[in-house]
Amino acid sequence: MKRLSYLDIFNIISSEHEYNKIRTRFPVYTHFGHSFFIRTFAVNILNDKEMGKIILTGDRPTGRLHIGHYVGSLKRRVDLQNAGQYEKMFVFIADAQALTDNIDNPEKVRQNVIEVALDYLACGLDPTKATIFIQSQIPELCELSFYFMDLVTVSRLQRNPTVKTEIQMRNFETSIPVGFFTYPISQAADITAFRATTVPVGEDQEPMIEQAREIVRRFNHIYGDTLVEPEILLPDNAACLRLPGTDGKAKMSKSLGNCIYLSEEADEIQKKVMSMFTDPDHLRVQDPGKIEGNTVFTYLDAFCRPEHFERYLPDYPDLNELKAHYQRGGLGDVKVKRFLNAIMQETLEPIRNRRKEFEKDIPAIYDMLKQGCDVARAAAADTLSDVRKAMKINYFDDADLIAEQVKKFAAEK
Ligand code: TRP
Repeated sequence: MKRLSYLDIFNIISSEHEYNKIRTRFPVYTHFGHSFFIRTFAVNILNDKEMGKIILTGDRPTGRLHIGHYVGSLKRRVDLQNAGQYEKMFVFIADAQALTDNIDNPEKVRQNVIEVALDYLACGLDPTKATIFIQSQIPELCELSFYFMDLVTVSRLQRNPTVKTEIQMRNFETSIPVGFFTYPISQAADITAFRATTVPVGEDQEPMIEQAREIVRRFNHIYGDTLVEPEILLPDNAACLRLPGTDGKAKMSKSLGNCIYLSEEADEIQKKVMSMFTDPDHLRVQDPGKIEGNTVFTYLDAFCRPEHFERYLPDYPDLNELKAHYQRGGLGDVKVKRFLNAIMQETLEPIRNRRKEFEKDIPAIYDMLKQGCDVARAAAADTLSDVRKAMKINYFDDADLIAEQVKKFAAEK
């Protein structure tokens, strides 16, 4: 968000409409009257707050979340949340987006909304610090998507690489649902409705954020500065950018059966780690082994921290030494897998245990989501009011319009 200039501040405090918008956000000031001094003070405080980040991100509820989600974005969100350097944080369950390719399976989406909410809480997302909500409950997002549709061409959507691969994956060919085809537009609405500055997501979402940025630029160019251009926040660790499945395939996905879920039981985690894809040419312990494309080492890159060596593998000082030994030959897969298993167990146990606690009071989770939806809806409504004004479709709260029309028709007589 741009810092307001003195001229901007002056314009806000001299316009009743703009200043009233701020007043509603700072009700305390109404107790002191509205002198020039108080107005300036209020706008400055708002300005400082607006300097902060608004973080927004979401997940489709098509299954429980897995460790790919965790390293790709979830852990980052929790860290950002706990660091507290943001103005607002929104995390949402993208059920409407999940329906774009599950329209005949609403039960699947419905069942997984609560699963994702539990995974969020289990990972440490805290509803007192972040607004957690469900996409479909914010009708303003549909409204904004509808206006955005006029700013994007069909050929631009066809060029979106993520949409392209997804269409192939789902064998849609020419029978693509329009809603699915246009989901990048609705995702732009998700982001901009909350004035998000920062979107922590995995690498596969990059084209979506780029699309959103283009829409914002186009909108602001036509209608004046109204929307905030978001930035993507990618994981800084290459292994976390796109964690492969346990079978070494590029993507961890439920349909490929190669996931480790956040809620997985200890024995399942062990089974999956011990049967993980490694280097297929590393047949005997003494053979030199490859690190590249070796899933076990990719997972170690993503999850291993220095203290894990002290705890579980004190013969090695760090990951580089372990890799070097494997590459030289003389280090067996089983030993490395046991080490990874210890790390995965240590990482996932507290998450699993917290989830079990939250599972004991399911109505409280729905309550939390409902409250989140209320907060989110108010935020989206605020942006939509700016959007309608910018697009000149705010007929009933624009007194000047009526006066102008009165004049026009009086002059015609
Ligand atoms: N497309 C994202 C996914 O598949 C989910 C999503 C929907 C999202 N709207 C968003 C993510 C807005 C970030 C911002 O996981």
